[in-house]
Amino acid sequence: MFTFIRSHLAWKLFLSYVIVIVIGVAVLSTATSLSIPAAFDRHMAGMSAMMGGSQTMEMDLFSNYQAAVVESLSLATITALIAAVLASFFISRQVVNPVKKMMAISHRIADGEYHERLKISGNLHLNQLDELDQLALTFNQMTDKLEKIEIMRRQLIGDVSHELRTPLSAIKGYMEGLIDGILPTTPETFEQIYSEADRLQRLVNDLQELSRVEAGAYQLELKSISPFDLVESVINHLSLQFEEKKINLEKKVDRQLPNVLADKDRMLQVLTNLIGNALQYTPEGGKIRISASLVKSEIIFSIKDTGIGISADHLPLIFNRFYRTDKSRARLSGGSGIGLTIAHALVKAHQGRIWAESNGEGKGSTFSFSLPVVIHKQ
Ligand SMILES: Nc1ncnc2c1ncn2[C@@H]1O[C@H](COP(=O)(O)OP(=O)(O)OP(=O)(O)O)[C@@H](O)[C@H]1O
Ligand SMILES: [Mg+2]
Repeated sequence: MFTFIRSHLAWKLFLSYVIVIVIGVAVLSTATSLSIPAAFDRHMAGMSAMMGGSQTMEMDLFSNYQAAVVESLSLATITALIAAVLASFFISRQVVNPVKKMMAISHRIADGEYHERLKISGNLHLNQLDELDQLALTFNQMTDKLEKIEIMRRQLIGDVSHELRTPLSAIKGYMEGLIDGILPTTPETFEQIYSEADRLQRLVNDLQELSRVEAGAYQLELKSISPFDLVESVINHLSLQFEEKKINLEKKVDRQLPNVLADKDRMLQVLTNLIGNALQYTPEGGKIRISASLVKSEIIFSIKDTGIGISADHLPLIFNRFYRTDKSRARLSGGSGIGLTIAHALVKAHQGRIWAESNGEGKGSTFSFSLPVVIHKQ
């Protein structure tokens, strides 16, 4: 019985009302039983002197009076009990129903169904939400987030399996050809297999890096760095590739620019990704211009190329993971579409912004990002 009451809010409410009623009735009846005889005696003393009444008549009157008091007390108790039943029923319905609904939805969420939401009865815009409405609102927000994470998770698994399938099928195809004796056992065949395995390894490394960066599972070592030194290091590193591809490099970075607050290795990674892309997507004989300038309290780094360009419909999607404007071409060049996603996450972690501009296919592209400058305290 006790456990039954403990597990039902309506019964708990009802019981609390009954306790209040019982205490009220007990106090009232004790008070009346104590005060009635004295009040009656006082009242009757004057009356009997005036009317010369008998003892029996007085007793009769007293018991009648006492019965009337008991009767009205009982009537009040019954009415209060009925009111308690009704009140506990209505209040518990208001509280219990939303909680039960929340429980049912959370069970369904646990089973992988994320589309249901709780109804909010108050007016959200007028800030007329009681605690239960606020709880429902937070619950719905939590469900929205869980649904988004679930969609992303499914998408990621789909994307990763798709990306892994291609080099794996290529390796399998080469091996089958070798086993069946269709493909010649020449160094070229082995080189093809090696390059597919290499692609697979790069993809796995990129994925690992992406998951680390997106989860923020790395420590940013923010230091004051000169934008000029940053660009110089990357260019030194990539100079051979500029020569090999016969690409003209123009650099416009002032030595006097104020320092930025950044993690040097991470920023080298971003610049290498962006300049690497410019090199990759600009045909031989093209031009790449690297510049940095101070705008308000930020340094804007820009990498402008005369390469294949990006059409307006691809532009907003370019930073999404695995996004490539031309899948077949990128496959040949070995790109997996993760580089820009990593760059985006790293720049964001530095409180900066990153964006791409292009006048369309064949018209070159410009990738820019901002970093906050170091503010010297006086
Ligand atoms: N400078 C550029 N000019 C034209 N297209 C570009 C340029 N930079 C990036 N892109 C387009 O954006 C896509 C995504 O770039 P991202 O660097 O993320 O991937 P990727 O270069 O294909 O592969 P990786 O993950 O190896 O860098 C590229 O596949 C390409 O289609
Ligand atoms: Mg790239």
